[in-house]
Amino acid sequence: MKKLLGILFSILVIANASAFAEQKVLSLYGSAEPRIIEKLAEGFEKETGVRVDWIRMSSGETLARLRAEKSNPKADVWWGGTLDPHSIAALEGLTEPYKPSIFDELDPRFRDPIGGNRVIGVYVGILGFSVNEKLLKSMGLPTPSGWDDLLDPQYKGLIGVANPNTSGTALTTLATQIFLRGEDEGINYMKKLHKNIANYTKSGVAPGILAGRGEIAIAIIFLHDCIYHMEQGYPVIAVVPKEGTGYEIGGLNLIKGAPHPQVAKQFIDWVVSARAMELMPTVGSYQLPTNTKAKVPAVSIPIDSVKTVDYDFAWVAKNGVRIADRWTREVFTLPR
Ligand code: F6P
Repeated sequence: MKKLLGILFSILVIANASAFAEQKVLSLYGSAEPRIIEKLAEGFEKETGVRVDWIRMSSGETLARLRAEKSNPKADVWWGGTLDPHSIAALEGLTEPYKPSIFDELDPRFRDPIGGNRVIGVYVGILGFSVNEKLLKSMGLPTPSGWDDLLDPQYKGLIGVANPNTSGTALTTLATQIFLRGEDEGINYMKKLHKNIANYTKSGVAPGILAGRGEIAIAIIFLHDCIYHMEQGYPVIAVVPKEGTGYEIGGLNLIKGAPHPQVAKQFIDWVVSARAMELMPTVGSYQLPTNTKAKVPAVSIPIDSVKTVDYDFAWVAKNGVRIADRWTREVFTLPR
């Protein structure tokens, strides 16, 4: 009897081990909100049986992680986060070009912003202000309507934005000023803005939460995040800066030396589909989808309705590291 039990036990162990060996795994780095990364991971797993192990890091943080792992890559795909750090990664040889099988379904304006399928565009988001009007009113202060308004000393300590070294949102903010005013004037603008900043956060969306809670009054964030915060009951409104504003294209990259390149390509083909993109608004992720067949969420702000700066993604790919470094040396170190 003992012998029989022993044999049965060994059979069970072997069966389990081979089932485990057969389960395919995808290692995913995601730089949008955790709730949507989780939703996509579940959706892909449901359709394909591939288990998705994912981690959320801000866009600049993910770039730093990829650099650190260059000789021994741990992840297969990087989905979401602003295009700029994705493009920098591509130029540094940390990622590999890959053209999704349904590339033709993607909007030609956003699908391949730096060329050569080096980064695929998966969504679009508009930069602006999330303003806690209730707080401003209680202080007798007006709602700002543009970038220049933010420099008024009346907003000292009331504005939040992230750090462009870690956050793609903040790098978009810095580049937007450069595209509005030229490089030196853009840096000068950031110096003046610095005087009014309460706090630089690591992640781009964090100042929006601080504004919602009334810890600050104005957050420079993507407006789809502000719309989600409004839905959550925060007393904020979305303001599109009147001078014109920047925007992001969400990036998607195959990591060079990915441990599971086949499932990585399978995931990329799936995540650009209309049905995958339509999962985003189900968890309050209101970026504009780049798949032309995907439904645009009713609450999203159409990009064509907004005055945008001529955001040169190829320029930021080449100069992003240098301008973030200039910001650190010339702006961040100044007293406030
Ligand atoms: O909704 C999350 C989001 O705003 C994305 O649209 C964007 O790509 C990402 O966050 C940027 O995050 P971070 O600024 O932390 O890199």
